[in-house]
Amino acid sequence: MSKVSVRGLELAYDDAGAGAAVVLLHGFPFDRSLWREQAAALAATHRVVTPDLRGFGESTVVDEPATMEQMAKDVVALLDELRIERFVLGGLSMGGYVAFALYRLFPRRVRALVLADTRPQGDTDEARAGRETMARRALTEGMRPIADAMLPKLLAPATHAGRPEIVARVREMILATPPAGAAAALRGMALRRDQTDLLPDIIAPTLVLVGGEDAITPPAEAELMRREIRGARLEVMAGAGHCSNLERPEEFNRALGTFLNELEP
Ligand code: MLT
Repeated sequence: MSKVSVRGLELAYDDAGAGAAVVLLHGFPFDRSLWREQAAALAATHRVVTPDLRGFGESTVVDEPATMEQMAKDVVALLDELRIERFVLGGLSMGGYVAFALYRLFPRRVRALVLADTRPQGDTDEARAGRETMARRALTEGMRPIADAMLPKLLAPATHAGRPEIVARVREMILATPPAGAAAALRGMALRRDQTDLLPDIIAPTLVLVGGEDAITPPAEAELMRREIRGARLEVMAGAGHCSNLERPEEFNRALGTFLNELEP
C-alpha cells in the first residue's frame, strides 16, 4: 500500500505490475481490496492502480458529501502524481458512477472504459431519501446495520448458500468502512447527476460486465449501456450477483483480459 497527498487528502492505493495502466474503482461500501483477484491477474501484463476512494479503506474521511466529481478529481490527481496520462478506467457500481463523472470531466485521459454492475441513471427521490436514512444510521449505529441491510442484495442466492468465504469477505469489507466515509458517499451518490445523456458521446472502447442475478444494478441497466454506448461489448455472468468480480473472478478476468488485449496501443 502507498499513500499520496492530493487535494487536501491522503489517498491510499496499490500500484502493481508494469505496462499500460488500468485503474479500478471500488463500489460502496468497499475498498481497494475488492480488486485483489483482478490486480493479481492483470499485473502480469499491465500496471494496475487501485485506490481507496475518499472516505474508504485507508484514505482520508471527509465529512461533507463525497460527490462523484470530487472522487473523480481525486483519482486524476493521484494519476497525475504517478505520471499516468492515459489509462483504462474500470469501476464497479459506485466506482462506475465515478468513472462516468471522470469521463465527463477528462474524456481524453480515458483509453477505454470498463463498467461493471453499475448504472448511468441518478437516484429517484425515494432512493435519495433512503440514502439519507442510511447515512444517519451509519453515523449513529455504525456499519453493522448497513451490512445487514445490504448483504442480502449484494450477492447472488447461490453465493449466499454456497460461498461463505465470499459472504464473510464482503461483510468484513463493509464493517471496516469508516461510518463517516460511508455517510459522505451516500450523500454524494444521492447528489449525482443522471449520466444517460453521456452514453452516446462515449467514444472510448467500452466493456460492460454484469452478474446475471445482480439485484442492485440488474442486467437491464447493462443492456441499456451496451445499446447506448457505440460499439460497447456486454458480458453477463450467469449466477453472479452485484459483486460479479468476486463471485466469478475467473470469468470476469477472462472477459477483462480479452478486452484489454484487443485494445489499440
Ligand atoms: C455499490 O455497490 O457501489 C452501491 O450498491 C451502489 C449504490 O448504492 O447505488
